[in-house]
Amino acid sequence: MVSVIVQEAKIDQMQTALLVIGIFENERDFFKSKGLNSTITAAIIELIENKEFKRSFGSNIIFHMMGKGLIKKIMLIGLGTREKFTYENARIIAGKAALEAKELGVEEFCILPFMDVDEALIEAISEGVLLSLYTFNRYKTSGKQATTIPAQATIVVNSDSAKFQAVVDIVNLITQAVNYARDLSNLPPNECPPSQIASLALALDGEYGIKTRILERYEMESIGLNGIVSVGKGSNNPPKLIILEYYGNVDHHKPYLLVGKAVTFDTGGISLKPGDRMDEMKFDKCGGCSILGILKAIASLGLPVNVIGIIPSVENMPSSTSYRPGDIIRMYNGKTVEILNTDAEGRIILADAMAYGVAIFNPQAIIDLATLTGACVIALGANVAAVIGTSKYLAERLSKISEKTGERIWGLPLHDEYYEQIKSTVADLKNIGGRPGGAITAAAFLSNFTNDIPWVHLDIAGTAWTQEGTFERSYNPKGATGFGIRTVVKFLMEVPNK
Ligand code: BES
Ligand code: ZN
Ligand code: ZN
Repeated sequence: MVSVIVQEAKIDQMQTALLVIGIFENERDFFKSKGLNSTITAAIIELIENKEFKRSFGSNIIFHMMGKGLIKKIMLIGLGTREKFTYENARIIAGKAALEAKELGVEEFCILPFMDVDEALIEAISEGVLLSLYTFNRYKTSGKQATTIPAQATIVVNSDSAKFQAVVDIVNLITQAVNYARDLSNLPPNECPPSQIASLALALDGEYGIKTRILERYEMESIGLNGIVSVGKGSNNPPKLIILEYYGNVDHHKPYLLVGKAVTFDTGGISLKPGDRMDEMKFDKCGGCSILGILKAIASLGLPVNVIGIIPSVENMPSSTSYRPGDIIRMYNGKTVEILNTDAEGRIILADAMAYGVAIFNPQAIIDLATLTGACVIALGANVAAVIGTSKYLAERLSKISEKTGERIWGLPLHDEYYEQIKSTVADLKNIGGRPGGAITAAAFLSNFTNDIPWVHLDIAGTAWTQEGTFERSYNPKGATGFGIRTVVKFLMEVPNK
């Protein structure tokens, strides 16, 4: 695995196999602030004047220094125009540079920050490097050794290296948690039934003070978690309810409750999905895996907050023991739900888990993460998650933070009228509300189980893995993205300790 470090140094003194220099378009004096020597500067000017290096966003060129000085090779990478350059762009460019370095087979490389250095820039660059070099290759039996991943990336700064190293240390822990969650999310469904999610969660028990508990099917039956039990009935792999507790704040302040959907495979059940792209439903566990990642991150950071993570995990299968359309389920909080489509299973397991979390832990706020609806992907595409809920504060905070993390989220409304769509004629609620506003009616369903505690739901159906319509992002390799972890962890780093 790559480690990122910050070093205070003059470029000429750096000994490196590859120096990465980002250059903006249309700037004549680009080299002024970079501290480059005359040989390097002359080479760059030549490449630009000959139009060999265009400086457009992401374009790059590599040249050898032929033994002049301590730098072996230089990679110039285009930054586009300075006015359009954002921290997200820095993350993408740093990721691209890291992937190029891997392609070149270098053991280490150095990066010059692309503009005036601040903490956010160092954060974005180190995230780009650490997230882009993630690979999921445990099922490849050959070709693994062919590419070496660089062992070290050095960000070269003029001053304050200790302050910036502290930023990178935090990024290291958070991206480790993201890559950990990606690893779990990418597991194939045959190797990752609910019991596997449970044992992975149990492996976190004791790590930096996390406590993990698993509720088995018979316990869920006996306390009335009938939503989770019903959805899990069709599979030979029994459902699990995973509960993680982290108390970082000794003053026993009310915890934050994080709930994540972990359907290890969603066939749709009796309301069977069409075969096309059904394999992608192995990613229907991403919300739950993100909760594991968030707990791992906040615990390793030792954040002074109290957090409960609850992960209902089931496999949604069609069989003679499956729940059916027409069934009426009495949920943990006593409300009754008429099932009209067994493919709308996520809201049922989440609802039970939230009602349980509210009753047992009396949280100050609830955030849930779920690959909940195809409708969300239709509404916002595959690059933006929906935030829907009853807490304007939570929605605004998360949206604001997401502008910095690059994990785009956008608010959808939850007006009273949407609740009409999920009223049942025979029970309190029905589990589908028709096609109009499908992502919203799913959230309206969930809000029946929050007991009016401030809550937001993140629908990550489009963003949890790279899929049709996903924009190319160097730092999101194919497969699970770990979407939401960085944003929620940032939120928990910022919340007032009360
Ligand atoms: N896991 C799916 C949602 C999903 C679909 C996520 C496609 C990502 C990509 C969820 O359980 C589901 O099947 N939802 C149904 C609800 C419908 C029956 C009301 C859907 O969105 O089609
Ligand atoms: Zn489904
Ligand atoms: Zn699902």
